[in-house]
Amino acid sequence: MNDTPTRAPVAAVIVLAAGGGTRMKSRLSKLLHTIAGRPMLSYALDAARALQPERLVVVVGHLREQVEAHLAESAPQAIIAEQPVRNGTGGAVACGLAALGDLDGVVAVTYGDVPLLSGETLSLLVDQHVADGNACTVLTAVVPDPTGYGRIVREGGEVARIVEHRDATEAERAIAEINSGIYVFDARVLREGLSSLQPDNAQSELYLTDVLGYARAHGGRVGAVRTDDAWQTEGVNDRVQLAAVSAEVNRRLLEHWMREGVTIADPSTTWIEAEADLSADVTILPNTQLLGATSVATGAVIGPDTTLRDCEVGENAHVIRTHGELSIIGEDAEVGPFARLRPGTVLGARGKIGTFVEAKNAHIGDGSKVPHLTYCGDAWIGEGVNVGAGTIFANYDGKHKSPTHLGDNVFIGSNSVLVAPVDVADGAFVAAGSAVVDDVPPGALAVARGRQHISDGWVAKRRPGSKAAQSAAESSGQVHQAVEQAREKLAREQEDHQ
Ligand code: UD1
Ligand code: CA
Repeated sequence: MNDTPTRAPVAAVIVLAAGGGTRMKSRLSKLLHTIAGRPMLSYALDAARALQPERLVVVVGHLREQVEAHLAESAPQAIIAEQPVRNGTGGAVACGLAALGDLDGVVAVTYGDVPLLSGETLSLLVDQHVADGNACTVLTAVVPDPTGYGRIVREGGEVARIVEHRDATEAERAIAEINSGIYVFDARVLREGLSSLQPDNAQSELYLTDVLGYARAHGGRVGAVRTDDAWQTEGVNDRVQLAAVSAEVNRRLLEHWMREGVTIADPSTTWIEAEADLSADVTILPNTQLLGATSVATGAVIGPDTTLRDCEVGENAHVIRTHGELSIIGEDAEVGPFARLRPGTVLGARGKIGTFVEAKNAHIGDGSKVPHLTYCGDAWIGEGVNVGAGTIFANYDGKHKSPTHLGDNVFIGSNSVLVAPVDVADGAFVAAGSAVVDDVPPGALAVARGRQHISDGWVAKRRPGSKAAQSAAESSGQVHQAVEQAREKLAREQEDHQ
């Protein structure tokens, strides 16, 4: 979301992404699990690119084929460095540095699994680093529970070193200021510091954090930038953290859209993914998910209980209790409640897809209505058409899918079956209950059903003594009586006239 470029030139950003991710218990690389519809790694890449570095390196290891395939698509300019053995963060950065060859100037190190770090914060870190002439600058945060993190040990206010939780004394564990793992280094100090690392610690790993002690010992300045937004340092190691970070990303996206003029009736049940695009004066009702590249134009009302993925909703449209995918809804159109829009549904302006209607690859013209209980697949429908309740577009003969064409101002009577391929031309009518298998010419009426036949007195003959027979007898008795009364009245009147 933030792409403020820093003024200081950045020679390289090294993104660490080789870790095992074992706590995810997943066949999918942790870095490809999505947050607000985007792979976790893409957040780190965005933040890195905000620095406009000369070079961007991603250090891969665990499930590297998956990560590399993603990078080939999303960041083809990135240099991929393999860390063959997971020997710690120091080892990982050394691999990244080796892939860069000769290097001078500012190098930033970030993690692929810290999605909320913003480009803005990284830029601040670089600016501070350059302004203070530091050898190393680390991003820190004060957190309520620092368990597991490296602690920032300060002496006289200055950062002296970082001690890992497992190597820390009781007194050091009481420190609430943690190492985010995000740093800016002077390339020369980093290279020298890395080559001095020894795995003499609780985890027998090469700790990148020991480079800070090295820098100090060799006369370099070590600075720190403390962020007030601890979410920016929050890593994702398991699915509990994935859910927590996802909820926070969603909360921030909702806040962004509300500030842009979108009404969100119930933020606690609304999910809007990162790629969605909303206009001012859109209203989102409870239990709504706007996923993928969904866009919603001004005045539209979405929800309640609606999921749209990769849909385009026009101005002032209403979409209620609907599940939609890869569909376009025109301006002033109405959809739902209880509608399913499958890929390729295009509803024109002022059109309607109503209750219990499923549409797929259906082009429904301006002002045309499919209001109730219909399957509408592979359909090309003109303007001003009315499709009666219960109509089925029978597009599949068991082997092939075929299209149905309805011209402008066509009227389809209720409970009809349109057996594709079939054309109903402009202005034609289809009688209710028809099974239409032949094309209907313009302006014609097609009646494709059995004619109604009446067998008088059938119930009295075939169901004698039944309730139906009794009702029928009473009914005809009443009619008989009424006719008699009318006759008598007429006779009296005629007598009076004589
Ligand atoms: C590290 C820091 C710790 C800090 C914490 C913040 C060290 C020694 N410790 O902890 O001070 O508070 O991050 O989250 O640096 N990685 C590799 N290769 C490896 C090991 C790790 O690429 O061999 C990557 C991981 O994918 C991850 C990052 O480095 O993105 C951090 O690894 P992780 O094991 O989570 O951090 P810690 O070492 O526990
Ligand atoms: Ca971690």
